[in-house]
Amino acid sequence: MSAKPKVYVTRLIPEVGLQMVREVCDVRLWEEELPPPKDVILREVVDCDGVLCLLTDPIDAEMVAAGKNLRVISQMAVGVDNVDLKAATARGIPVGHTPGVLTEATADMAFALLMTAARRIPEGIDKVRAGEWRTWEPMGLLGADVWGATLGIVGLGRIGTAVARRARGFAMRILYHDPERKPDLETELGVEYASLDDLLAQSDFVSLHCLLIPETHHLIDEQALRRMKPTAILVNAARGPVVDTDALVQALREGWIARAALDVTDPEPLPAVHPLATLSNCIVVPHIASATVTARNRMATMAAENLLAGLHGERLPYCVNPNVYEGSRHAL
Ligand code: DGY
Repeated sequence: MSAKPKVYVTRLIPEVGLQMVREVCDVRLWEEELPPPKDVILREVVDCDGVLCLLTDPIDAEMVAAGKNLRVISQMAVGVDNVDLKAATARGIPVGHTPGVLTEATADMAFALLMTAARRIPEGIDKVRAGEWRTWEPMGLLGADVWGATLGIVGLGRIGTAVARRARGFAMRILYHDPERKPDLETELGVEYASLDDLLAQSDFVSLHCLLIPETHHLIDEQALRRMKPTAILVNAARGPVVDTDALVQALREGWIARAALDVTDPEPLPAVHPLATLSNCIVVPHIASATVTARNRMATMAAENLLAGLHGERLPYCVNPNVYEGSRHAL
């Protein structure tokens, strides 16, 4: 019998991380393209010491309870809204995540979405491909200026701040809304704090970078969308459920806002027939903001480091629930 710790890895991840885990663990790996069904995860974790999971896995209270030997849950993502942190913490199981290493890639994507929607690039590409480019049109595909426009950032954490740095290069006025005022960033980047209502009412672009927690679920609902300018563009590279999808569809159809550009949606994956996938004033990409070779390699390495630290009984370098180390195992 192997003395190595048993680990379940819920999908093929970049080899650089997988190799680190294979060197010291007895690895069971789900190699399919789609995520393992919940009953498979439940079965697999029963005798595992650790699990390396993705944001597509429902690591809920039932799963946490099923993993009787679990000593660590390591997620290869910065967001952990799919993990029941309360249940993990109550059992003293540290949960790891991968902050920092995907910040710039995600900010690049948010800005790319913003510009793509502003300048109607997909409509231009479609026009060329359909053989409809007949002449230079004085009023064809008119978009919105990015240079000098007002950007509202909801959630000025690592990624929101990285987006603000990019926006400075475009001479944008930058408003932010966050539970915490950030005086240092206000000085360094010239960002201005605003209430959510003011930010929505004044911004030409609203870019979402908050965590998905109960307080931010449907933060952008009908009322919020109706506050935005009819010329405004909404960018979401955070989590789909931060936006009320039905309200967004109505807003796009009825012109409460001009356009949306989404890396994340609710539901995910988005069916091809969904209105958000078919409306000409909405751009959707399949949750790929962190999908650069460098970012994904770093995420895999970090997830492996967290996993191995947990298996060795060491403090996770990037732990979401550090209070597991403070003896307070029953409250998050
Ligand atoms: C994360 O890490 O939470 C991202 O959504 C992955 O792209």
